[in-house]
Amino acid sequence: MSSESAPEIRVPRHLAVIMDGNGRWAERRRRPRAIGHRAGARAVNVCIDFCLDRGIEALTLFAFSSENWGRPEDEVGALMKLFLGALEREVDELERRGVRIRFIGERERFNTAIRAQMQSAEDRTRANTRLHLTIAASYGGRWDIAQAARSLAQDVAAGHLDPDEIDERALGSRICLADLPAPDLFIRTGGETRISNFLLWQLAYTELWFTDLLWPELDAATLQRALDDYAGRQRRFGLTGAQVTQAPTHETSE
Ligand code: FPP
Repeated sequence: MSSESAPEIRVPRHLAVIMDGNGRWAERRRRPRAIGHRAGARAVNVCIDFCLDRGIEALTLFAFSSENWGRPEDEVGALMKLFLGALEREVDELERRGVRIRFIGERERFNTAIRAQMQSAEDRTRANTRLHLTIAASYGGRWDIAQAARSLAQDVAAGHLDPDEIDERALGSRICLADLPAPDLFIRTGGETRISNFLLWQLAYTELWFTDLLWPELDAATLQRALDDYAGRQRRFGLTGAQVTQAPTHETSE
């Protein structure tokens, strides 16, 4: 490539998304919140299409938090119905398009039908590599860190691990998504500027991007704005700007 060629556009390898604003989208239309979640499911497809189109390798979506179980029973019920319907409807197409689907979170809390669909979606798409789609469901970042710590403690108790060997690498290897590069870009719709117990460990050096747009309003132009913003940022991972410019380093390219 000649030195006069256009600078390389940086595209995130891994996008993590909080899909917020379904309820408000519905309430503004004087419709039940469940209608907002249904519109939100359509926006999920917009996001997946965008990632496939731009060659993004991994997409992690926060679909249902550990805390969301505390919502009114009818809303939780509507969400469960929506998840089951989406799994039944969408997996064939995702499988055909080369998407690998996985779920992270406390799966035991879902009913048998949903758990069976989750397992089947994972099994059927296991060999796909075009896009790693992870759905965080009944997930919390604190739960994730606790389950990783428990797993290490079990190895210590069994005599397979010395406590002195517990370091960031050891804990990081037990945390969800350990086999993927850390998220490069986090997007949250819905106007709130917080992480809400999403990937607490994994987001340590992720670039954050927020929009007031409600999740059901998501379109490719909004996602492109986030990518353009990301492309202009300098990621330093705790180093100085000069160090990064001289010898580009990237936490996820180890
Ligand atoms: C947050 O908006 C959204 C959720 C709790 C549910 C997310 C679910 C979907 C986008 C639908 C389906 C997903 C899949 C993966 C098929 P909110 O209800 O908190 O909105 P609000 O802040 O306006 O009340």
